[in-house]
Amino acid sequence: MKELEDRIRKDGIVKAGGVLKVDAFLNHQCDTQLFDHMGAEWARLFADAPINKILTIEASGIGLACMASRHFGNAPVVFAKKAQSINLDGEQYSTTIYSFTKQREFPVIVGRRFLSEGDHVLILDDFLANGCALEGLISICESAGATVEGIGIAIEKGFQSGGDKLRQRGYHLESLARIVSMDDETGQIEFA
Ligand code: G4P
Ligand code: NA
Ligand code: NA
Repeated sequence: MKELEDRIRKDGIVKAGGVLKVDAFLNHQCDTQLFDHMGAEWARLFADAPINKILTIEASGIGLACMASRHFGNAPVVFAKKAQSINLDGEQYSTTIYSFTKQREFPVIVGRRFLSEGDHVLILDDFLANGCALEGLISICESAGATVEGIGIAIEKGFQSGGDKLRQRGYHLESLARIVSMDDETGQIEFA
């Protein structure tokens, strides 16, 4: 998506270790008009799928998913919560996600009331790196018996392995910007 690529070139900051900072429009300050255009683009890319629910994970996915909902007939947005611990009361689906940036596992939960068999889910998130967060969201959908209709990502770091793994598993994955390389010394970013 050209508008997103242009914005990344303009306001993204390449950090060491393959990290892209996009706090100016996505992870801290949010450009809601850009989010709205991104939602419209996902709606176009997933037009053939019978999506009735959007699933994301707190925090940064929420704003994107809520704007996108408007383009999917106001489909409800459910966000997985990062929990302190897993409460085994049976009212929640839970899994653990490994965070490479934080070098630890953390539990995530979704209330059973909000996801069930018969749901046709679009999973949305801001970044795709190693794909651990998405694996967790997929596993929660499997626990619920819900169908994953597709996965929409704002920025995929194509030089990390998450995207390829998910495509190999047959998921319909659409990244609005796919970075193939970036250089923290020159600030150069190359898109697919
Ligand atoms: P993975 O889920 O794809 O394996 O990624 P990883 O564990 O490496 O990422 C952990 C967090 O960092 C996630 O956000 C992810 O979206 C974000 N992230 C990964 N790579 C980048 C990057 O290059 N730039 C930025 N800005 N974020 C990146 P999170 O911990 O869930 O935090 P939140 O921002 O959603 O609250
Ligand atoms: Na995220
Ligand atoms: Na994030």
